[in-house]
Amino acid sequence: MKGIILAGGTGSRLYPLTKVTNKHLLPVYDKPMIYYPLQTLIDAGIKDIMIVSGRGHAGHFLELLGSGADLGVHLTFEIQEKAGGIAEALGLAKDFADNGGVTVILGDNIFEDNVRNAVETFKQGARIFLKEVPDAGRFGVAQIKSNKIISIEEKPAVPKSDLAVTGLYIYDAGVFEIIRTLKPSGRGELEITDVNNEYIRMGEMDFSLLNGYWSDAGTFESLFRASEMVRSMGSGT
Ligand code: G1P
Repeated sequence: MKGIILAGGTGSRLYPLTKVTNKHLLPVYDKPMIYYPLQTLIDAGIKDIMIVSGRGHAGHFLELLGSGADLGVHLTFEIQEKAGGIAEALGLAKDFADNGGVTVILGDNIFEDNVRNAVETFKQGARIFLKEVPDAGRFGVAQIKSNKIISIEEKPAVPKSDLAVTGLYIYDAGVFEIIRTLKPSGRGELEITDVNNEYIRMGEMDFSLLNGYWSDAGTFESLFRASEMVRSMGSGT
């Protein structure tokens, strides 16, 4: 199983913090943001990892992380030329995936849970990780019926549940074929929610509920909360 960190986007919601560096390198308590998703993959036993970033300040990732040797992993870098969405960024990792399954994590998502078991037992289809939150409308929101996931809505005005779809996904190699068929959404991006809904339609989507802390860090408020969360967990990565 290979790992992919999606660290694209322009970070416009965090401007001017993102004027001279990449959003995923901003501090979350005592470490650069990207250390956390990287550690989540490492803790899941994944050692071969691709980082897909946007053009802005992309060289900073290399300066910070190098080959990955310090962390005991092998890193590969890919550039997403334009902010074409999370699913488009994932599509760039097709050759890297080499017809195998992939664990995908968003570069601004911070997890407390260890997902090693889910990664090691994954066989086919897809698996997403849900977290109960008070503000589900900010995220993809899952609707569950009889312990099956029946739909995901992206940032709905009226959420059908309080279960946010976190930025952690396990896919089989079929994901790249699904991405190829996607059409851009209203905001002109290929949406990861459309990928997930296709797996739901095919009856191949599983889910896990997370128990530990989870936060994104893409806005001033969530970045601040993420730092507080990491601090309260007693240690960073
Ligand atoms: C993305 C996804 C959304 C998911 C969220 C998790 O949203 O589109 O489904 O819930 O990440 O952080 P974004 O925050 O990139 O708009």
